[in-house]
Amino acid sequence: MTGNELRKAYLNFFQQHGHVIVPSASLVPENDPTTLFTGSGMQPMLPYLLGASHPAGKRIADSQRCFRSQDIEEVGDNRHTTFFEMLGNWSLGDYFKEAQLKWLFEFLVDEIGLDPQKLYVTVFKGASNFEIAEDSESVQIWQELFAKKGIDATVITNPEKEGLQNGRIFYYGQAKNWWSRSGDPDQMPPGEPGGPDSEVFYDFGADLKIHPYSQFADQPCHVNCDCGRFLEIANSVFMQYLKTKDGKFIELPQKNVDFGGGLERILAAKNHNPDVFQSDLFWPLVEKIADLSYRSYLANDIDTQSFRIIADHVRAAVMLMADGVIPTNKERGYFVRRLLRRAIRHGRILGIKESFLSLLVPSVATIYETAYPELNQQMSLISNWVIEEEEKFEQTLQRGRKEWAKRVTRGGQNTISAEDAFDMYQTHGTAVETTIAIADEYQLDLELEETRFIAAFEKLKAQHAMQSRKGSAKKFKGGLQDHERQSVKYHTATHLLHAALRKILGAEVQQKGSNITHERLRFDFSFNRALTADEKQAVITLINQWIAQNLPVYRQEMEKEQALQSGAVAFFAERYPDQVTVYTIGDQPDQGWISKEVCGGPHVSRTGEIGMLTIQKEQAVAAGTRRIYLQAKTD
Ligand code: ALA
Repeated sequence: MTGNELRKAYLNFFQQHGHVIVPSASLVPENDPTTLFTGSGMQPMLPYLLGASHPAGKRIADSQRCFRSQDIEEVGDNRHTTFFEMLGNWSLGDYFKEAQLKWLFEFLVDEIGLDPQKLYVTVFKGASNFEIAEDSESVQIWQELFAKKGIDATVITNPEKEGLQNGRIFYYGQAKNWWSRSGDPDQMPPGEPGGPDSEVFYDFGADLKIHPYSQFADQPCHVNCDCGRFLEIANSVFMQYLKTKDGKFIELPQKNVDFGGGLERILAAKNHNPDVFQSDLFWPLVEKIADLSYRSYLANDIDTQSFRIIADHVRAAVMLMADGVIPTNKERGYFVRRLLRRAIRHGRILGIKESFLSLLVPSVATIYETAYPELNQQMSLISNWVIEEEEKFEQTLQRGRKEWAKRVTRGGQNTISAEDAFDMYQTHGTAVETTIAIADEYQLDLELEETRFIAAFEKLKAQHAMQSRKGSAKKFKGGLQDHERQSVKYHTATHLLHAALRKILGAEVQQKGSNITHERLRFDFSFNRALTADEKQAVITLINQWIAQNLPVYRQEMEKEQALQSGAVAFFAERYPDQVTVYTIGDQPDQGWISKEVCGGPHVSRTGEIGMLTIQKEQAVAAGTRRIYLQAKTD
């Protein structure tokens, strides 16, 4: 099946069930200052979900173009994309759970022919702190639907711990089965609507290979575990609640359904191929990239990643430009610039020397010939923007290369820090993307993974702007950069200290707080007596051993629940968002590690960068709480 056929089949099906089909809204939200881009089909529907009457009535369906800028770094695997189409249907105070789940199942199984044996569903487990009960109604509806296909759907209540257990219907908590624009019930601001949801997953089969170093390799597999076997293809949100000022939930004036299913993903399920890039919604781009690079898709992991990044980024950038977002240095335009420049860099990685990006633009128009014919009229304009952006990028590259070449030959440097990048920007105006591109060319390492690197660079830039405003630019130069760097080292050192204290004094030791300056780190922890001289010695020896071993520091993004299950220490577990960053110190991220903590970073990339440490002092700070100071060893 092609993407066009699937889109049409979906819209026809819901039209037959009384829905009015509306066109996709722009990727630039109208009258919604809260987000830069339309990231779900629901966003343009917001006023109507809250009770305003929609001119098209109470049953609406569409295929909404979406862009999720936060997923830029995720692109490269077989399923993540920044741009996608979300098939959507809405009940604005009309039908509810029963009709929604029935129609959805009918569409997936009877209409497009997915094997019901390969479908698994999840439902909301309830949130007792908000007095919202488990969604047993949806469980019952699903059981009846599966029964009609001769499937006895077993309900599982603890999939995260115990895995699939031959189940068909799985209960998950608010981190997975609740939807609002801002996340789970805790994260929602007052006035935000949301509700429990029920998701459908497609099973690509247990024989799908999991990489032995994958963080999922040793864990029980369940539908939400992201190991690659299951793909979420549909989400029915029962948009029925509103968060109030006092943090409670009340019922909305009407019970709504907000359904969203990724077109690319349902298509992958339909074609039983987990790689969305092999569908017709990407393939013309992939083929063109192969022509231009003389390389083949799927030949090796690194090239495949570059193929996917280029295809995704060009498609997304073209769609954004079609909605009037042109490459600039600010806000929305900055994302288009980043997409285009990142695509160019990956073109270089594939060995494409000359300007190539604009040659891919017509492939996007071909893909969307039927669905978005207006793209064709904008082609020459969009191509011109792309050509211009490629030229600008090439100019900054040429300037930047000369400077970097000098530095590399002068200093024998092979790692680039955010401070280096900032210095280049300050002295020569080299943008951070340019520096990253040059790092690729010269095979230099970035000191931090790309997103962090850009964030650290931006932070330096902001700090510098602030300092300049205060008229103390001179004082800043040099000094603050060193201070920043030292603070990052101490930050990683707190993780080592925490781990060492737990190892020497017992796992009941818990962090109570920490404070870092560029001169020292201070760390408070629960313990009810002073440390003996031997204990202090053992702690600092252990820390310095780990530093001497120059252990790698891994950074992983994962679901909070998964992080906690994997043994990560979380200092403020209840305050963290759904998706957390986990820093692991040790030879491997999955086993034999010495420290694993939920933490925002930044950190050094290897412990050796910290340098040897000493204990400055250790004292009581409150009943049952000790305070310890560490600093760099000076001799
Ligand atoms: N609004 C829901 C989502 O984006 C359907 O997943």
